[in-house]
Amino acid sequence: MKFFIDTADIAEIREAHEMGLIDGVTTNPSLMAKTGRKADEVMADILGLVKGPVSLEVLSTDHAGMMGEAEKLLTLGPQVVIKVPLTPDGLKACRALAQGGAKVNVTLCFTATQALLAAKAGAAYISPFIGRLDDVSNDGMQCIEQIRTVYDNYGFTTEILAASIRHPIHVLQAALIGADVATVPFSILKQLFKHPLTDSGLEKFVADSKKIKS
Ligand code: E4P
Repeated sequence: MKFFIDTADIAEIREAHEMGLIDGVTTNPSLMAKTGRKADEVMADILGLVKGPVSLEVLSTDHAGMMGEAEKLLTLGPQVVIKVPLTPDGLKACRALAQGGAKVNVTLCFTATQALLAAKAGAAYISPFIGRLDDVSNDGMQCIEQIRTVYDNYGFTTEILAASIRHPIHVLQAALIGADVATVPFSILKQLFKHPLTDSGLEKFVADSKKIKS
């Protein structure tokens, strides 16, 4: 399973990148706004650091606007993945961009039938939002499971990018189902390391190491 980091915060991306566990980055307009910085500077910083896929989301909601923005974003680096919403205009842009050789991440996916449309439009990644489905009493993980089945039934190569991950169990369940990628906030990446038995075990090893005769 590949890990992307779901943030536009360059300090978080740098720290995660140094851990050597990050294969790429996903951003969205809310994460960009949260930085309080100029988008151009944020994007340049991320692309200077991460050579794996970096999803940058278009802000327009109409096809022509999305295409214009995508054209500019694609000049920023070979690792740029254009993120478009799962709407008729978004999928039209996805088709055109994919035909032109660009990688597209279709975002705001909440059903397996939406994911099927994205795959047919040539998406490189589909982003089902697990946490937001759970928030409204739907089963986010069931959505991942259904997409895996549908894609495997027809041999679609679109990668399932489990998004809106809220805790380590989401990562585990998505991995068991066979999602290709999990995009995780930095806080959850750090939680994945944690186990009280690791901490207490290490504490004892450190204490005992002082008693070793040399
Ligand atoms: C995915 O690419 C999105 O940026 C993200 O995972 C959304 O997560 P949220 O529901 O926690 O905002």
